[in-house]
Amino acid sequence: MEKLIITGPTPLKGEVKISGAKNAAVAILPATLLIDGICTIDNLPNISDVKISCNILESLGAKITRNNENSITIDTTNISSTFAPLDMTSKFRASYYLIGSLLSRCKHAQVGMPGGCKLGARPIDQHIKGFEALGATVDISSGKITASADDLIGTSIYMDIVSVGATINVMLASVLAKGTTIIENAAKEPHIVDVANFLNTMGADIRGAGTDVIKINGVEKLPGNSTYSVVPDQIEAGTFMLACVASRGDLLIKKCISKHLEPVTAKIVEMGANVEDIDGENIHVWCDARPTNVNIKTLPYPGFPTDLQPQMGVVLSTANGTSIINESIWESRFQYTAELNKMGAKITAQGKSAFFEGVEKLSAAPVYATDLRAGAALIIAGIIAEGQTEVYNLEHIDRGYENIEEKFRKLGAKIERVEE
Ligand code: UD1
Repeated sequence: MEKLIITGPTPLKGEVKISGAKNAAVAILPATLLIDGICTIDNLPNISDVKISCNILESLGAKITRNNENSITIDTTNISSTFAPLDMTSKFRASYYLIGSLLSRCKHAQVGMPGGCKLGARPIDQHIKGFEALGATVDISSGKITASADDLIGTSIYMDIVSVGATINVMLASVLAKGTTIIENAAKEPHIVDVANFLNTMGADIRGAGTDVIKINGVEKLPGNSTYSVVPDQIEAGTFMLACVASRGDLLIKKCISKHLEPVTAKIVEMGANVEDIDGENIHVWCDARPTNVNIKTLPYPGFPTDLQPQMGVVLSTANGTSIINESIWESRFQYTAELNKMGAKITAQGKSAFFEGVEKLSAAPVYATDLRAGAALIIAGIIAEGQTEVYNLEHIDRGYENIEEKFRKLGAKIERVEE
């Protein structure tokens, strides 16, 4: 078993380059199944969710050439299987995008139940509602989701809940459907726009991604033969911004999109720290004094992202005064607070809310990542805590952050990965 040993406290200083977005990459890879040809994807993050996505695509008949650590060329001319087994799909949430893609391309998909972070109930009723509206039959039994259709016919679909996954999945299923599909009450996250941009680059006809109405005019095929670069990861960028504030550091965050970071920038400024948007793609963050308390409510984009809630929780655990976080997306996203309390934080989590009574400092302890973003939060906690923190369950962190300890080490953090 591997663990991270972090010796703190260290104010983070220097420059960090942001990788491609995990949540975009894990949707774009299954989306390649819609292409009757070849495409190249650049700026792919080198993370385990991407590796497993590539393994699944290969098992379905795709041919993948690895150009370098962050670029692959995929030939999806021949798809020989529409079955993705549970041992692969259960490793991550985004495996459910195989359903929309395979259904659209092959009119059939059999996919093991998706896994992913344990954040509470993660229903997929809105995905199914969308597939059925397009004319598919969906069956869930024996740990598998089976979807099939004679024909997929475009229609109007109103999402009962703003869901990132359902919006992307229904968009994928509609790309090769007959006629026009309209998704109303769609999610607006940057990676939804990125998946639509990728598909349009490959030959799809999708309008309105990034607004709450997306219109997909079905096309006969996607010829591909193009190169696409994955959007920068706003959650990774936000993680470094919050790590900077938590550690009272000074960072230049390079190759991100400042517009995507407005909800976190606004809160950092409200806490009394500084954010300078240099040119829309590089952000300077610095913090000279103890941040003041703020209240946070997580919301779909452009609200404060739930995927930055645990990292913000670390900042608030040592802020001046008491802060409240209201988590409105996931019911079990405060598991990290028990770990932070082992480090001297004073957090009371009750249902959807957590109360952070700011303490002067955290102190080292052995802690366990309960999910991906909780893992990132514990690394930040280790960097600001006094003493030697050990972080366990690194497999969660490796799913979504490329070279995380190397990136933090370059910023001055004393962090080592060791085998127990
Ligand atoms: C995606 C992200 C995840 C992020 C989340 C919210 C990926 C791979 N994962 O997850 O990192 O935390 O968005 O920004 O991109 N819901 C339903 N029925 C459905 C679908 C969702 O009730 O059919 C509910 C969920 O329980 C949750 C809310 O809608 O409360 C949002 O979920 P959703 O946006 O679908 O999250 P994911 O796409 O799974």
